[in-house]
Order: sequence, then C-alpha cells, then structure tokens
Amino acid sequence: LRVLLLFGGQSSEHGVSCLSAANVLEALDPARYEVTTVGITRDGRWTLVEDVPRTPLETDTDDPAAALPEVGDDGDTVALVRTRKGTQLVRFPEHDAPGSGASSLGPVDVCFPVLHGPHGEDGTVQGLLATQGVPYVGADVASSAVGIDKRQMKNVFTARGLPQAPYRPVHRARWEEDRDGVLREIEGALAYPLFTKPSRQGSSIGIAKCRDTGELVAGIEEAFGYDRVAIVEQGVDGARELECALLGNNRVEVTPPGEVRTAHDFYDFEGKYLDEGLELQCPAAVPEPIQRACREFAREAYLAIGCRGMARVDFFYIEGATEPVLVNEINTIPGFTPASMFPYAWSTQGLEAPALVDRLLELALE
Ligand code: DAL
Ligand code: MG
Repeated sequence: LRVLLLFGGQSSEHGVSCLSAANVLEALDPARYEVTTVGITRDGRWTLVEDVPRTPLETDTDDPAAALPEVGDDGDTVALVRTRKGTQLVRFPEHDAPGSGASSLGPVDVCFPVLHGPHGEDGTVQGLLATQGVPYVGADVASSAVGIDKRQMKNVFTARGLPQAPYRPVHRARWEEDRDGVLREIEGALAYPLFTKPSRQGSSIGIAKCRDTGELVAGIEEAFGYDRVAIVEQGVDGARELECALLGNNRVEVTPPGEVRTAHDFYDFEGKYLDEGLELQCPAAVPEPIQRACREFAREAYLAIGCRGMARVDFFYIEGATEPVLVNEINTIPGFTPASMFPYAWSTQGLEAPALVDRLLELALE
C-alpha cells in the first residue's frame, strides 16, 4: 500500500506534528507500506523529505516552540495531481516555479495526515484530499471543521446534552461594536477565574487565565490574534483532566479514560511535549462510575460531530461535584508523540502502535 505521510504544516502545532509523524512512521511496517514522507513547511509548501525531522532546526534558544523539530525548506516541492491513471504525487525540482523538470513519484493509495491544528486538522487538507480522490485517515471535512472550532463544537455538544463548563463565545465584530456590553454579559454569566482561548487552535496556544476585567480584556484580545472568535470559559477549580481515545467508523470503540500526570502546574505547551517527568496512566485512578461516564460521553461526542477514523475526547473531572465529568473538547487528529495519550491508551488495550496504525489505515479505506 502506498501511503502518503503528511506532517508539519502552518499551525502553531507544526513541531508537535513532526513528533507525532515520527512516531507514526516508526509504527508503519515497511513490509506492508511504501511510505512517502511529505513535510509541509511553516509557510505551507509541500516538500519531499527523506525522513521525519526529530530535532529542532535551531538549538540554543529559550523559546520552547523552537525546541521542537521543524520541516526544513530545502526539499523539492511536491503536489498531488489527479491524472487519468489515478492521483499521483508529482515532484517539481525547481523551488520557485513548477517547470519542465516535473516527474511523477507514482500513485498514492491513502494519505495519513498527521497534522494538528488549523490548516490540517480543520478540514482544509481533508477537502484537498477528497477533491483529489485520495482516501485519508481520520475525520472528514465537516467533522474536522466542527472539531477544531470550539464554538461550533460546543454548540453541537450542547445540542446533544453533553455537560460542559459554562462559556460564552465572543465574535470580534461584537467586541469592536460594544466591548462594555460584551464584558457585562460575560461577567453576569460567568465567575472568575476565566480562561480565554481562540475558537480554533490547539496545544494550549493563545490561552490566558483571567482573574479580573483587565485580564479578561487582555485575554480576549490575545485570542483575537489567532481567530475572529474567542471563547471565554469558566475555570474549573481543582479539576483533573481525563482523556478517552476512540477508533471506528460504523462501530466505535472507546478506551477507559487516561490521565496525564505532570510536575508542571499547568499542562501547557512545553509541559506537554518536552517534560521528562510526564507520566501517563490508563485507566486513570478514578471510580468506576466516572470511567463509565467518560466513555459514554466520549462516544456521544464522537457521534455528535459525525466523526470517523479516530479521535481523543478530553474531560474535566471534579471530584464530589454534582456534575463531576465535563466534556472539554474533541481532537480529530490527536497527538501521537511518545508523551501522547492516544497511542498510550490504545497500547493499554492491547493495541500497540503498529497494530493501531494498521487499524487506522483500514478504517481510512473502509
Ligand atoms: N492538539 C494536540 C496534538 C493533541 O490534542 O494531542
Ligand atoms: Mg485540540
């Protein structure tokens, strides 16, 4: 089977995507799959690379994001082209303009997009693959778009009756027109501390914790740096974070909830991928009814967005609360790094990474 492994990309999760893709590549059995690795540069160029980068381009920096690997800019440009003989991957040796030196790298049977965040997990790449007739791993265009957009996702979850933390979306147009009105409405409905986030992002990018009006204004404006819609969420005090992994198209399987334990106060961008002290546990040490609730809500969330292939659903667990389990979000291309819950949770269910990627490719072709 000829597999196109697509990674990197234009989102702030570029580096995380490289870590995930390196892990996926390692799990793909070379006796079964002929893998072509295509890295998408930060500015969106598809490049042919020999391997998935595992080390940063720059060292010696204090910027945690720069400590993650990055797709270099020196590979040949490639593109998917639909021909009479099916869809082929075509290579253009000139970097600046496709010239006469184009050559086919052969057909593509299936694509495994290991892309996190906007321009990859949001339905855009899925749309491109669909129009080129290339089957792909994971959710389709509409489910991906709903899954990445917190406002849409929360609406869909609310319609399904799933419990969530209280929140308010803020459209930038309303903010520009009547900032005081928006603040009054938020402060009337929600209690501090509040969290502000861009509606479409991942990996804790653009998130701020706000304890008063000044911080709320700053947080909303920071979120507008990433998206036209910001989400303001009521903080869930003392919550533990649980995550279920899911697989399936017409039959959905759900793992017990897992928990990421870390010494960092906040499961943040660096903490997530660079923390040596990260410890994954699955099943999480929580009572049986809590595990059952998570699995049930995870399945409902998956069905609610019309998901296929895979996802990870994240929860807040507040011990002793009337509503102890709240759905936080769904990720349609969950992290696949060595520190990620998705592959770990499946490994505890007897599905090690090689069997997991086999299953994902089968689901893509089903
Ligand atoms: N967005 C990251 C990769 C995750 O949810 O795992
Ligand atoms: Mg996410």
